[in-house]
Amino acid sequence: MEQTTLEVSRLTVSFQTEKGVILPVNDVSLTVPVGKIVGIVGESGCGKSMTARAIMGLLRFPGKVTGGKISLCGREITQLPEKERRRLRGAEISMIFQEPMTSLNPVVRVGRQVDEAVRLHTNCTRAEAKQKTLNMFREVEIPEPEARYNCYPHQLSGGLRQRVMIAMAMVCRPKLLIADEPTTALDVTVEAQILKLLEKLRDGGTSVLIISHNLGVIARVCDAVYVMYAGRIVEHAETETMFARPLHPYTRGLFSAVSSLREGGESLKTIPGVVPNLLRLPKGCSFSLRCDRCGADCENEVPELREVEPGHCVRCFLKEKEGRE
Ligand SMILES: Nc1ncnc2c1ncn2[C@@H]1O[C@H](COP(=O)(O)OP(=O)(O)OP(=O)(O)O)[C@@H](O)[C@H]1O
Ligand code: SF4
Ligand SMILES: [Mg+2]
Repeated sequence: MEQTTLEVSRLTVSFQTEKGVILPVNDVSLTVPVGKIVGIVGESGCGKSMTARAIMGLLRFPGKVTGGKISLCGREITQLPEKERRRLRGAEISMIFQEPMTSLNPVVRVGRQVDEAVRLHTNCTRAEAKQKTLNMFREVEIPEPEARYNCYPHQLSGGLRQRVMIAMAMVCRPKLLIADEPTTALDVTVEAQILKLLEKLRDGGTSVLIISHNLGVIARVCDAVYVMYAGRIVEHAETETMFARPLHPYTRGLFSAVSSLREGGESLKTIPGVVPNLLRLPKGCSFSLRCDRCGADCENEVPELREVEPGHCVRCFLKEKEGRE
């Protein structure tokens, strides 16, 4: 059987707001096998970052995990006390955050920031930590690592800052790296380099969970992909299958948005409408307000996520009807 680094089972995150409780992550299950890159894709606000933060044990108040299990390398970590979770972060599971500038301290040299990450989890001397940092800088292909070690974040390009972030996340050799929109702020050339780097880390044995609203990024590097909409997984398959046979109307909408750009469209063809407010979700399928295939069932009942071919799951009544016909 395939070994898994991360197993998330029926994870639910609740958020108490003034107007009621919302579930930005609603019954989400996903698996990251050892040495694979897995992607979560979906529009803004669909719960990608919240899922990542819940896995890291870094939800911000008033968000909290109210259901489900998270296992890392076969060990359940959901109920671990905060002190234990803190020990895991950086050592066994690391994250690159969506806001790169807020994750680096602007007044501390970048090399020292990575040293601190080493010293937090090991008994290294300062000199040993520096050596580890420089080795990691080389591994993530930061040119002239000794010179870059002494730079402040603002002295580096966006691409180099992202490499520093990856070095910091990887320096203690975690088993799982979560990269939240790792290339969104970068131009396409640098994006390609960073994606290559993530592949190199994967080939070195690190499992990676990439979060992106960009299907192109997912297509290039991911072995499997989960499509998320309004807090739920609506489709999941190996990347090849998903690209050959996307089944959920939302996934198809994401694909046609990408292909309209590739075919020289002036602007991104978007799916009509917006992600619904989580306080006012439709009673049935959460995509029903935007779906051109919406039928009577769809408005009244939430479809289950069902396996329609080995390893390919979809949450849509259309597939159920096909199965019955
Ligand atoms: N402090 C908060 N109070 C209420 N709702 C919140 C709060 N923070 C986030 N949310 C809601 O949680 C949902 C999920 O947010 P999340 O940041 O996970 O989205 P995302 O998929 O990462 O989006 P993006 O692509 O923009 O980063 C959103 O609908 C958002 O409105
Ligand atoms: S269940 Fe119905 S509304 Fe939802 S995606 Fe499928 S066809 Fe569209
Ligand atoms: Mg996000």
